[in-house]
Amino acid sequence: MNVLLIGGGGREHALAWALNASPLLTRLYAAPGNAGIADVAKCVALDTADHCAVLRFVKDQAIDFVVIGPEAPLVAGLSDALAAVGVKHFGPSRAASQLEGSKGFTKDLCREAGIPTGSYGRFSDAHSARCYLDTHPAPIVVKADGLAAGKGVVVATTRAEADAAVDACFAGAFGAAGAEVLIEEFLDGEEASFFALCDGRDAVALATAQDHKRVGDGDTGPNTGGMGAYSPAPVMTPALVERTMREIIRPTVAAMAARGTPFKGVLFAGLMITADGPKLIEYNVRFGDPETQVLMVRLNSDLLAAMLATADGGLGQLDLHWRDDAALTVVLAGKGYPGSPLKGTEIRGLDAARQTPGVEIFHAGTKRDGDRVLADGGRVLNVTAVGASVAEAQQRAYAAIAKIDWPGGFWRHDIGWRAVAREKGRRG
Ligand code: AMP
Ligand code: GLY
Repeated sequence: MNVLLIGGGGREHALAWALNASPLLTRLYAAPGNAGIADVAKCVALDTADHCAVLRFVKDQAIDFVVIGPEAPLVAGLSDALAAVGVKHFGPSRAASQLEGSKGFTKDLCREAGIPTGSYGRFSDAHSARCYLDTHPAPIVVKADGLAAGKGVVVATTRAEADAAVDACFAGAFGAAGAEVLIEEFLDGEEASFFALCDGRDAVALATAQDHKRVGDGDTGPNTGGMGAYSPAPVMTPALVERTMREIIRPTVAAMAARGTPFKGVLFAGLMITADGPKLIEYNVRFGDPETQVLMVRLNSDLLAAMLATADGGLGQLDLHWRDDAALTVVLAGKGYPGSPLKGTEIRGLDAARQTPGVEIFHAGTKRDGDRVLADGGRVLNVTAVGASVAEAQQRAYAAIAKIDWPGGFWRHDIGWRAVAREKGRRG
């Protein structure tokens, strides 16, 4: 079957790599793709915001299945445009994508369905937001309601910071996404990224994962899209996975179906594992980046078949298998990220790095210039490794990075530290 994958980041390279291994695949296209994705798919320049252009491409190239990677085309209704002409796809409808598109929508749904999350208030003017802050002291979290490319969240440790965050939102710092502000309880605990395939009725949990959001070693500095990830996440015991499915994921799938907007795709729950158990921080309606990179190298089943079952309502029959090996990925970013990254710098040594045992290199933001590979984004490469333990995967990933010559880039040196410390504790 011919497949079109929408997106061009590290997540999409990992998805393309896994889709390419499917016996069901005939041709794989990626729009726009990147220099790494070009090794496993035909990259095409398509304006994915132009639904007519996408539909024309689907028809001209006899595409049987469209996989939508990022949130923006989902929230913009690309799934609905495909559904309207009967094109099978992986990714929720615009209405179901509200789970990521509006944080207030998700909070209200949690309240109605009794899903554990922090307490909150929704505000459309600064005065009422400040009144709420009078009775809800810091630490407290202020968020722009809509999609703000990961930048609309402030964990305020003082009242002054909370006020400033409210003012920034209403002053238009996040455009339309900040027209409504959410203020929520600060949740204390360890974060985990939880993924479940959902076919509108049934849900199947994927392997567990954790990422590192802060830019600097020791989990310091500004938040980013993610500087590295690993799987499994030792904090997510089988009992916690079952509890998350029972208390969070299944009630969400049921509530969305009851509203007449069934969720079909991958539901990504950002969890806080608190002293009272797992609580929902937020939903995303797509795979995580860079969590997908570690999930795909551990997946021992056909990704395309799993995505088709998700689209067809067949998850009840799906049995997913995972390698026992652990996986870890380190994000190599352009200097300046998450601010303005340096672009166009040359990256050398990728072939040598790829020879390291157990290593796959996914491209997140690169382009080719003749034989040269150039940085072309904030997060640029994901050096990913499998190993018998997270510690071994970590050692292999950093051994591969040592062979890469890229003065324009930087990366964290401690990805996986929590899991490695837990492994050591278990052995000692
Ligand atoms: P989000 O974009 O909503 O995932 O938020 C980005 C990051 O802010 C999360 O990964 C958490 O580290 C932090 N965060 C968001 N909401 C909360 C909360 N209610 N309590 C504690 N930390 C939070
Ligand atoms: N790594 C977190 C995300 O994809 O949003």
